[in-house]
Amino acid sequence: MSQELANLESEALNELASCADLDSLQSWYQKYLGRRGLLTQFMRRIGSLPPEERPAAGQAGNRLRELLEGEHAKREKQLQEQAVSLGLQRELVDVTLPGERPLAGRLHPVTRTLRRIYQIFAQMGFQVFRSREVETDEYNFGLLNMPPHHPARDMWDTFYISDDVVLRTHTSPGQIHAMRAFCPEPIRVILPGKCYRYEQVTARAEFMFHQVEGLAVGRSITLADLKGTMAAFARQMFGEQRRMRFRGSYFPFTEPSVEVDIDCILCGGKGCRVCKYTGWLEIAGAGMVHPVVLRNGGYDPEEFSGFAFGMGPERIAMLLYGIDDIRHFFANDLRFLEQFS
Ligand code: FA5
Repeated sequence: MSQELANLESEALNELASCADLDSLQSWYQKYLGRRGLLTQFMRRIGSLPPEERPAAGQAGNRLRELLEGEHAKREKQLQEQAVSLGLQRELVDVTLPGERPLAGRLHPVTRTLRRIYQIFAQMGFQVFRSREVETDEYNFGLLNMPPHHPARDMWDTFYISDDVVLRTHTSPGQIHAMRAFCPEPIRVILPGKCYRYEQVTARAEFMFHQVEGLAVGRSITLADLKGTMAAFARQMFGEQRRMRFRGSYFPFTEPSVEVDIDCILCGGKGCRVCKYTGWLEIAGAGMVHPVVLRNGGYDPEEFSGFAFGMGPERIAMLLYGIDDIRHFFANDLRFLEQFS
């Protein structure tokens, strides 16, 4: 009997040591200590022993049960701790790994250019006046001295929403809104915003683009004020050495009308591909507000005069950043946009 118990003990302890997880430990328990386990079977057989051997066999069996229960509890604790630390290892974060750089937002190059334009004009006392993108035919054309069938309407290819509602082709209708809002006070505003033209998209022309309109109305405003304002703007935007010239032009809503050129910032006026070898770049259309337009805005042209201009920030951004195709701006290609930080 005692030999049998000794064998059971060493077999059970060996096997216990090789239990590598809680499942195999459970099977081990069933095999040795469970209801039909080997030790339980031994204990049941004690009753069939001669009476004088029974107490010793019973004591030896109980001692072994105690021993195995104790060893089982120790091993169980070990395996539980192992399982916890394995889990922790799997979830371990290596704090020495380099972090992922968050994507930083950037301002769109046109937004940057617009903000620079606002700053420069703010220094000269111009405030921003916003007006709508969807206009009536009357504001976009009629009140700007282009009655229906006026041939000058052909200067702007127009998206019509209905017979008399259009997507504005320029920011000039904002002149009428501003005048009607300020009249009879003097005005010094810029009117930035999007414009739409139903025209062929090329490297220099988009069907949606921005303009910044400028409008000054007062009692003794002259063409010299327009020239001084444009020259001050060009120097701040493009550099102190910039030269500027006015070229005679035609707009129905200004008289006289001019186009504003600066000497090419890329070649310094010597002539290059960007300035088409003329040495000059156009930055705006401008002129003295036509008396008819002043009257439509509520001002008496005998008493008031004013100047207005309209410039294209995309064209200005192209010059500043050396961008050779206007279509890059709204193509939403991050490789392009990420260059402006
Ligand atoms: C006008 O739109 C006039 N309303 C400007 C004006 C305002 C004159 C006030 C007198 C007084 P023009 O069509 O030339 O003019 O456009 C003005 C500027 O808008 C251009 O110099 C150019 O910079 C920009 N522009 C015009 N069309 C496009 C286009 N398709 N894509 C990008 N920029 C454009």
